[in-house]
Amino acid sequence: MTDHKTIERDKATTVAIVGAGVCGLGIAWRLAQAGCRVAVFDKGEAGRGATWAAAGMLAAGVETEPGEQALLGLNLVARRQWPDFARELEAASGLDLGYRSEGTLVVAPTRDDAEQLRFSYEFQRGLGLELAWLNGAEARRREPHLRAGIAGAVYSAADHQVDNRQLALALKIAFQAAGGVLHEGVEVTGLDMEAGRVRGLWAGETRHGADTVVLAAGPWSGALDWVPQAARPPVRPVKGQMLTLAMDPAAPLLNHVLWAPKIYLVPRRDGRLLVGATVEERGFDESLTAGGLYELLDAAWRPLPAIEDLAVLETWAGFRPTSRDDAPILGPSPLDGLILATGHHRNGILLAPVTAEAIAGLILHGEMPVEARGFTLDRFATDARAVDARAVGAGR
Ligand code: FAD
Ligand code: GLY
Repeated sequence: MTDHKTIERDKATTVAIVGAGVCGLGIAWRLAQAGCRVAVFDKGEAGRGATWAAAGMLAAGVETEPGEQALLGLNLVARRQWPDFARELEAASGLDLGYRSEGTLVVAPTRDDAEQLRFSYEFQRGLGLELAWLNGAEARRREPHLRAGIAGAVYSAADHQVDNRQLALALKIAFQAAGGVLHEGVEVTGLDMEAGRVRGLWAGETRHGADTVVLAAGPWSGALDWVPQAARPPVRPVKGQMLTLAMDPAAPLLNHVLWAPKIYLVPRRDGRLLVGATVEERGFDESLTAGGLYELLDAAWRPLPAIEDLAVLETWAGFRPTSRDDAPILGPSPLDGLILATGHHRNGILLAPVTAEAIAGLILHGEMPVEARGFTLDRFATDARAVDARAVGAGR
């Protein structure tokens, strides 16, 4: 990891960032620490986009699915960075991030579920992930409120969690303490171009000059019509409904992050129990549906029946910023002076430290760390060329 105290200061560098979510604020904090003049713009309140809607799982291990091997490398770097990142940010902001390291349990309530879980366990272990197989009794020793008869479980000691809302607040405080300027309630409406290069941005009638503009607009990143088509990242919103139940913090029903078929549950230290999340292709539809909430409660009740006595504290819907291959888009765009940091889909909280490191590295030193280099926008152009080549080869 870069030692930020040693980053060479370049007083001439001014950076404008579109979006004050975990990505925009993390990058902004690192750049402000390094002595850049940084302004962040958010059309709403900082941290109230996807970052606010998330569950805060740092689940590099148990969320890995076939086809995500390339992303796993980046996720694991981020997971390793998290404990130091959390400590540094807590010291800089004076806030507790609610970082919890009990680990994650994935439970299989039935024998069929256990067969399926065994398949992902073998696949994930084959990728070198450290996971342990538990029988039902062992799982219940860890979490006594689990339903009797659990057929099997997987324990991942290294998949931790953080309170994502505290994280956003802490980044905002640390960024401002490092000298950064935050414009909340200011929508960016255009790029300022001069001789084919980005020279700043427009917020209505107001121009803000910058050497570099970073697009970190989360799920909105692909829908900004003022970004030229060639530089616009292929990102769409994928809706997730969630809810929070109230546990007794002195006697919580759950201590680990828990996954079961179609559900995850995330216990916070203050007694909140987050239950998530649906995965829906509904554009920016914010509605909460009876079907969505029913599905969540039913799937949560199966492994943990005692939730039926808990009060419902909160319900919400948010949008994952999802790219065409579910991996983030990090690095330069075809427009000189415009950098992309978006498309983090289900892993934006996990990837916060590595995203900040990669984009700050690019702006300060002209290159990203090696683990981030495979995630530039031009990988999609390569896909298109490969399809063209196959079509030519097939004589079409
Ligand atoms: P955002 O947080 O959305 O920030 C983008 C900001 O840009 C917004 O604040 C928005 O107002 C602003 N903006 C947009 N357009 C403009 C404009 N024109 N001008 C100015 N500002 C603009 N990830 C995990 O790692 N772990 C999890 O457990 C997890 N759970 C999730 C659960 C759900 C239900 C959802 C929806 C997501 C979850 N995620 C999780 C994913 C994670 O939330 C995102 O990947 C991450 O928050 C993306 O951060 P961001 O900064 O890119 O986007
Ligand atoms: N990573 C959890 C979610 O996106 O729902």
